[in-house]
Amino acid sequence: MSRFYVTTPIYYVNDVPHLGTAYTTIVADAVRRFHLLRGDETRMLTGTDEHGLKIEREARERGMTPGEFVAGISERFRELWPRLEIEADDFVRTTEKRHEHRVEELWRKIAAKGDLYLGDYAGLYCVGCEDLKTEKELLQPGNLCPLHRTPVQAVREPSYFFALSKYEQPLLDWYERHPAFIQPESRRNEVLSFVKSGLKDLSVSRTSFQWGIPVPGDPKHVMYVWFDALANYWSVLQDRDALKAFWNDGKVVHLVGKDILRFHTVYWPAFLMSAGLPLPETVFAHGFLTIGGQKMSKTLRNTVKPLGIAKAFGEVAGSEAGGADVLRYQLLRAIAFGQDGDFDFAAMIERYNADLCDNLGNLLSRTLGLCAKLTDGKYPPPGPRTAEDEALRERAVEAARAAAAHWEELAPHRALEETFALSNAANVYVDRTAPWAEARKGDTARVGTILSTLLDVLDSLSVMVWPVLPKKSAEMRGQLGLGPVTQERNVALKWWPQQPVGREAGEPLGTAAALFPKIDRDGAKKLLDVLAPKEEQGTAGTSPTPSAAPATGTL
Ligand code: MSP
Repeated sequence: MSRFYVTTPIYYVNDVPHLGTAYTTIVADAVRRFHLLRGDETRMLTGTDEHGLKIEREARERGMTPGEFVAGISERFRELWPRLEIEADDFVRTTEKRHEHRVEELWRKIAAKGDLYLGDYAGLYCVGCEDLKTEKELLQPGNLCPLHRTPVQAVREPSYFFALSKYEQPLLDWYERHPAFIQPESRRNEVLSFVKSGLKDLSVSRTSFQWGIPVPGDPKHVMYVWFDALANYWSVLQDRDALKAFWNDGKVVHLVGKDILRFHTVYWPAFLMSAGLPLPETVFAHGFLTIGGQKMSKTLRNTVKPLGIAKAFGEVAGSEAGGADVLRYQLLRAIAFGQDGDFDFAAMIERYNADLCDNLGNLLSRTLGLCAKLTDGKYPPPGPRTAEDEALRERAVEAARAAAAHWEELAPHRALEETFALSNAANVYVDRTAPWAEARKGDTARVGTILSTLLDVLDSLSVMVWPVLPKKSAEMRGQLGLGPVTQERNVALKWWPQQPVGREAGEPLGTAAALFPKIDRDGAKKLLDVLAPKEEQGTAGTSPTPSAAPATGTL
């Protein structure tokens, strides 16, 4: 058994969750579920990043203390995740004492190594990024940050510096020896050339504001928010056992957006090297969800509300949780993990109909319909198998193997492609084997072979979709007369299908119901009205106008 520890970035609480921030968290949860199915001891962490100038200002603008402000928004994140079927093992807030103590410990380790010194910090600062910008990065006129499109400000203040330049060669050596450390490959090359172009020492404290963790021994300074934030992945593993199991001996995977890659692949490993701590195995950078080609973000006022989408699709799919499954599927299937993806409601509806309804849902309902008619709603006794039956069974084994390999390499879109190709192959098998015609001929043994093969493949499929469609997997299994893939921690290895299972002949199947009812033309129109207000529908439900605020809901 291996240990697997997956993390999301911790989210700034200057904004409520939106689809862009939900994206990483959904992927992390799906990956967590896959590893559970494989029998790994698995842990997932998410949380909120609550210190820094950006948050202090935002609180002040709303006439609140930073403490009150961050508590409210952090709660919005914490409440949202379970409603998207995300079950993180821990939720960290950087204002928690348990985190602060460990960050101080990290600071002391780095200071003891002689890697911190006092200096003077000056440059052009973007508060949105909580980072300095170089002049040539800025958009003109107005000295704007290219990501936030807001003016940078000139800063100068005393600061502690971390001796990052000292780690230039050790980092390059590390990347060389650990090719899987930065993924995907294109991102690895970016980081490599950034480091090769020379590293400057990094300012890691501030004196111009208060909202942060005081520097041990010099409380006029608060720690730079990124120093504090990056430490969260390690700080939450509080006791020796958890630390050893997951940080030292586990496979640690940080999922991050491409905008925060440098923090995770340059600063973070350098801090860890300095502190004498093990480095994570992989930092995987994904792309941005865009609307009309622009990054979805609060600053650009074009965000989409994930719960609004889950609710709207929930009206069709039978429950909010079912709607959350639909959203999870769309995000993981439509976007190649690692690349940008443009968000489009009309395309979502089309994909729902094609993949979830006409492919997987249809396979389930026609198989169960045939069983109701031909086998008295029971798992039939299988007869001898033909080459065609064996071929589908082999295909199922192969699809499970290939999908697992794609999950391992963090390519959920490919894992789903394999999974749904298997479902499609099973639909073709129904057409070709025509069990209704065998029944007319009175060949009960043949009917038994065909339908038992289909039921076994559906059993495998219900496991393979669980990481992405946990609610629908349970419904599917219920209809097949099987118990849910357990949600308990440490699920046994047997769950990921090695081969279609086979059951006792005569076992009762459950009650059939449309898993994903079809959305017809009228239904699609109504759904679009809910998802995207009328004036926004010019471009199929998404809009390039920065004021777009589609998808209703409380979040
Ligand atoms: N607080 C820092 C992360 C600290 S991790 C030690 C931060 N927070 S953030 O809230 O601004 O962004 C968090 C993550 O959300 C980033 O990985 C960012 O890339 C991601 N996304 C924000 N908008 C996004 C999209 N439109 N699309 C995809 N991901 C997006 O940075």
